[in-house]
Amino acid sequence: MALKDWQTNSEYYRDIFWKTIDEWADPSKADEGAVFIENVPNHEEMLAECQRYTSWNPESAFPLVSGRKRHERYWDTTSNKYEQIPEDRVGTRGFAIPTKEDFPTIYEFLKRNEHQYFRPEISRLDAGGHIFPHTHSSPKFVEEWIYNMCLNFPDKCKFAVYPLGIIPFQAGDVYKLRGRNYHSVINESDEPRYHIMMRTKEYIRDYEKLFNEQF
Ligand SMILES: [Fe+2]
Repeated sequence: MALKDWQTNSEYYRDIFWKTIDEWADPSKADEGAVFIENVPNHEEMLAECQRYTSWNPESAFPLVSGRKRHERYWDTTSNKYEQIPEDRVGTRGFAIPTKEDFPTIYEFLKRNEHQYFRPEISRLDAGGHIFPHTHSSPKFVEEWIYNMCLNFPDKCKFAVYPLGIIPFQAGDVYKLRGRNYHSVINESDEPRYHIMMRTKEYIRDYEKLFNEQF
């Protein structure tokens, strides 16, 4: 059994994503899954800003992007299947907009690169947190690529995208991820994992087009 059709937005493909990763993962297909862009040297300062911050929002600021509310189950590495998230693990994700006041180092980096990275948002995935396998595709909106900068990447944290498999993230790495392909993150470590999502110019163009059609 393999993940044959990543465009099929069904429970079935989400369920087999981690179960069959050894069958479908193909490191030679990196260009179709996640492309390395750069390593940002002062990532430790950026991480410290996230660790000091306390006002994480459970909802993303960009509600038109699908996938935000699909964290209702998690991949249990013991039972080898998806399980309901227990009450004490609900709300294991938080979002923040990188303002100059709260995240000065991150803000400065983004300001310097505003020609490349658009609509940034910081994401925190708590210890034990999971991001359910999902795509960013919908009939009306296709988020082709999204930049993803990792500020820390603890042991036992895994980020996979179809058809590449595990993305070899190291702290400070920026990858351009093909968001329309299934992807998922599992943080089985005992510390939160922080990353910054940054949109492409094409994403902004499509987002504004959809917004103008709706309102
Ligand atoms: Fe995503």
